[in-house]
Amino acid sequence: MSKKRKIDAEGRQFNERWESEYMFVLQREKPICLLCCETVSVVKEYNIRRHFDTRHGAKYAKFNRVKELAGNLTTRLTKETHSYLAFSLAVDESTDNTDTAQLSVFIRGVKPDLSVTEELLDVAAMHGTTTGKDIFDVVEKSVSKNKLPWEKLVGLTTNGLVGLMKDKMKKRNCHTPLIPYHCIIHQEALCGKVLEMDDIMTTVTKTVNFIRVRGLNHRQFQVFLQEVGSKHGDVPYHTELRKDITLLFFMQSKGKPLPKLSDPNWLCDFAMLCDITEHLAQLNQRLQGHKQIITQMSDLIVAFQRKLHLWKSHLEQGNLTHFPVCQSISASVPGAFSCARLAAKISRLINEFDQRFSDFRTQHSAFAFFANPLTADVDSEPHHLQINSSELIELQRNSGLRAKFQDAAIEDFYRLLPPALMPQLRLHVARVLSMFGSTYLCEQMFSIMNQSKTKHRSLITDENLHAVLRIATAQDLKPDIDALTMEKRCQTSGQKTNIHNAEVALSIK
Ligand SMILES: *[C@@H]1O[C@H](CO)[C@@H](O)[C@H](O)[C@H]1NC(C)=O
Ligand SMILES: *[C@@H]1O[C@H](CO)[C@@H](O)[C@H](O)[C@H]1NC(C)=O
Repeated sequence: MSKKRKIDAEGRQFNERWESEYMFVLQREKPICLLCCETVSVVKEYNIRRHFDTRHGAKYAKFNRVKELAGNLTTRLTKETHSYLAFSLAVDESTDNTDTAQLSVFIRGVKPDLSVTEELLDVAAMHGTTTGKDIFDVVEKSVSKNKLPWEKLVGLTTNGLVGLMKDKMKKRNCHTPLIPYHCIIHQEALCGKVLEMDDIMTTVTKTVNFIRVRGLNHRQFQVFLQEVGSKHGDVPYHTELRKDITLLFFMQSKGKPLPKLSDPNWLCDFAMLCDITEHLAQLNQRLQGHKQIITQMSDLIVAFQRKLHLWKSHLEQGNLTHFPVCQSISASVPGAFSCARLAAKISRLINEFDQRFSDFRTQHSAFAFFANPLTADVDSEPHHLQINSSELIELQRNSGLRAKFQDAAIEDFYRLLPPALMPQLRLHVARVLSMFGSTYLCEQMFSIMNQSKTKHRSLITDENLHAVLRIATAQDLKPDIDALTMEKRCQTSGQKTNIHNAEVALSIK
C-alpha cells in the first residue's frame, strides 16, 4: 500500500480556516484551490499552504480574504451583465447543514459577440418560509440589484415561480414571452423512476454490501471479471450495476448461492433493469457537460425517444438485440423471459419522456430554425420568430456564409454573422443560446455546500459561505487583483475606500 494512501487513511480533517487563509474548499472529499481549481491529494495543512505560497502567494498574499475576492467578482459580474443581449435564470434551492434553505440564482448570459457565460448571480439564505412568493422576492431583488433588464429575460428553469415572474414582466411592459422549462438532466433522471424497480436495486445494493463487509478476494474477482469480459467482449461494462451483477455471479460461482439468483423471475427483471439503466446512463453522459446548447440537448432527447419506439417494436417481434443482458439471461433461463414485460416497461418510459419533455415541443420551430437557418422557409419562418424576412434572405443568399455553415459548429457559425446586417437574427440566436442546457453549475455548488457539512460549519456566517460559493463557482470571471491592490493602497494611504474604488480601478484598466 502506498504511503499516500496511508496518510489519507489517517482521516485528516479539513480545517475551515484554510478557506480564508489558503483559499481552499472541500469538493468531492478533496481540497480544491479556489484560485486555480487544482486539487491537493493529501489533506494536510503543510501541502495546502505550500500550494498557496508557491502558486499564488506573490499575487494574493495581501488579499487573502474570501469576502474581498467575492465582492470583486460581484462587481465584475454586474458590469458584465449590462452587455448581455439575452439571459436566462435558473433558480434552485438546497438545504445546508443548519437546515437553512439556501436559494441560488444562476444566470446564463449571451454577450454581444454571442459568447455564452454562466455564473452564480446570487445566493441567499432563506431563514423564514420558502413559499413561491418568498423565492420570487429574492429573485426580483437580485434582478433589480444587478439592474438586469426584464425584457432580455428569456428562459426560467425552476418550479412554481413562473406565474409571478410573468406578472412582473407584464407590469414592466415586457412583451417577450418567458419560456419556463425544467432542467433536462433532472427530468431525464426522473424518467427511470417509472420503471418501479426500486426493490431490485435495494436487493442488489444490500447483497453487494453484505459481500463487501465480509471481505472479498479482490484478485480472484478481478480474474473473474476478465474472464467474463472476454467471454462477452461485446458487452460494455460501464455502470456500477454491471459490476454488481458480475459480483453476484462471482459469489454464486464460489459456491455461496444467493437465493435471489435462483429465482428466474427476479433474474429477468434484474436483467431488464441493467439494460435500461445502461441506455439511460449513456444518454445521461452525452447530456452532461458545461455550456451545452439547449437545441443540441433537445436533439439528443428526441433521438432517444425515437430509439425507445424502435426498441419497443423490436421487442414486440421478440428481438432482444438492444438488450444484451436480457439476451444472455433469456438464453440461460429458457421460458422465463418475457419480451412483452420488457416492452411494457419501455412503453412507460416512452410516456414519461413525452410528458417530461413537453416544455420543448412549444419551442420546436424556434429550435429547428436555430439548427438549420439556411433551409428555413423565408415566407413563413421569420415572421413567426420576429425576424425580418430580408435578413433571412441575406443569410441564405450569402455563399460565403453558406460554405462556413458546413464545417463550423453552429454557435461559431453564428458568431460570423455581420452584426449590423442581421440584428434580429442575432437576437434570436442570442435568445436560444441563453437557455440553460443543464444545471452543471448548480450541482457543482451544491456539492461544495454539501462538503461543508462539518459541525464547525454552523459557526460560519451565511455571508462567508456565500463568498466561498461565489468564488468556487466562478466560471469565466476572474477576480481583478489589480483593482483590489489599488483599493488596498487607497485604504493604507488614509483615503476612504469602498466598492467604487474597485470600479474606478476597473475603468482605468
Ligand atoms: C433483430 O434485429 C436486428 C436489427 O434490426 C437484426 O439485425 C437481427 O437480425 C434481428 N434478430 C432476429 C433474431 O430477428
Ligand atoms: C451530499 O452528501 C451525501 C452524503 O455525504 C451524499 O449521499 C449526497 O449524494 C450528497 N449530495 C450532493 C448533491 O452532492
